Formats: sequence, structure tokens, C-alpha cells
Amino acid sequence: MNVLKFNNNEELSTKAAEVIIEKIKATENPVIGLATGSTPERTYELLVEKYNNGEVSFKDVTTFNLDEYVGLDPEHINSYHRFMNERLFDHVDIDKNNTYLPNGLAENAEEEAARFDALIHEKGPIDLQVLGLGLNGHIGFNEPGTPFDARTHVAALVESTREANARFFDHIDEVPTDAISMGIGTILDAKEIILLVQGEAKADILRQVVQGEITEDVPASILQKHPNVTVITDIEL
Ligand code: F6R
Repeated sequence: MNVLKFNNNEELSTKAAEVIIEKIKATENPVIGLATGSTPERTYELLVEKYNNGEVSFKDVTTFNLDEYVGLDPEHINSYHRFMNERLFDHVDIDKNNTYLPNGLAENAEEEAARFDALIHEKGPIDLQVLGLGLNGHIGFNEPGTPFDARTHVAALVESTREANARFFDHIDEVPTDAISMGIGTILDAKEIILLVQGEAKADILRQVVQGEITEDVPASILQKHPNVTVITDIEL
């Protein structure tokens, strides 16, 4: 794993936006994997700024998001559909028909997960996957113990993840208990991965991910085996 250390969130996000833009420019019909959460928020703002400055166009870009909560309508204030529309898609020239997230309202979530995985296979491979890191080492909603070869599936959120994400909801009871998440096997199919990790609270887990044993107890540790991963962080390892 290649680790790039920056001084603060602004620098880290600037680098992440640059890597995404370079990939879009260098690839015909680029397929980009996206994450939600706090970490990539500034990166998406910068992408919008750079689009407004004429530095990048998203018209030929296809996107796949890592995950969506089960049970949330795409318009729900906390759905990842809404997050992506508000942070990025509504502000750039992307064709929304080419932006894919799992459908959290599907009648059969397992079937929806399989459909989403097949779609990635059909339209992919993903040229560049953006990841954030959970405090427990999760990527997507692949919580500790998830098999490394899992495909897109219905994932139960562990209590600590629901607590971490409760900050976006009025009450923890409103945080869904399940999500549809790209599996680790699906994520590892991406040609290139950037893992964005911001803030001292994640220093211990990032050290385990980069320097520790490769174990399903630390889901992101498997990234050590991927041939093209860059960690973009403000943490000193
Ligand atoms: C989001 C996702 C999660 C987050 C992770 C970190 O789509 O898949 O794995 O990347 O929980 O979240 P933040 O950035 O809010 O600390």
C-alpha cells in the first residue's frame, strides 16, 4: 500500500479530487466507485468547484456507490441517494442514469444486492474506487468478521456503526439496522483504490490496516493484498 500523508483535511481532499479527475481524464467512459460519510464531503465540494471552473466533465462518467441503507426512500434526508445528489450529482454534468446505488426499498434486499453486483460486473470493472474507513476497520458496511470474498450483500450494521452514524439522524432508533453493501470481494475487483482517512480518532485502526496482520477482524487490512491502493490521510503512521 502506498501511503500519502497530508497536513489537514483540505490538503487530503485536494489530493483525492486530483486523483479522481486524473482518472476521469485518462479513461474512456470511466467507472468510479464512490463512498458517502463525512470523509469525502470536501472532496466532492472540490469536484463541483473544478467542474464549475471547466477543469473536468462528468458526462461520460458512470458511478457506483458502495452502499445504501435498507428501508430508506431515495429522497429520505439520510439516504445515500440523497447524499450523493446533494453533494455531487445535482451540481455537475453527470447523466443520472449512469449513477448507481443499491435500492434500499427493494422488496427483496438480497435479490437487489445480487442485481447490483451483476450490474457492476456488466458495466465495470471499476477504474477507481473511493473508500472511507470505519472506526472498527470497516469498508463499505463490511463489518469485522465479513468474509474477504463476500460479494454485494445485505449487511447488518454493528451497534458501534449505528452509534457513529446516529449523528446524522434525530435519534439512534432511526438509524437503519441493515444496509446493502458492496462486498469486500466486489471492492477488490476495482483496478485502483484510494482509501481516505481523516482525523486522529482513526490513527489506531489505520495503523492496524496498513501495518497489522491481514485479518477479517479488520476488514480493510485485506487492502494490503490489492496491487494498487493508495491511502490518503492526515494521520502520521
Ligand atoms: C460510506 C461507507 C462507510 C464510511 C465509513 C467512514 O459509504 O461505506 O464505510 O466510509 O463509515 O465514515 P466517515 O467518513 O463518516 O467517518
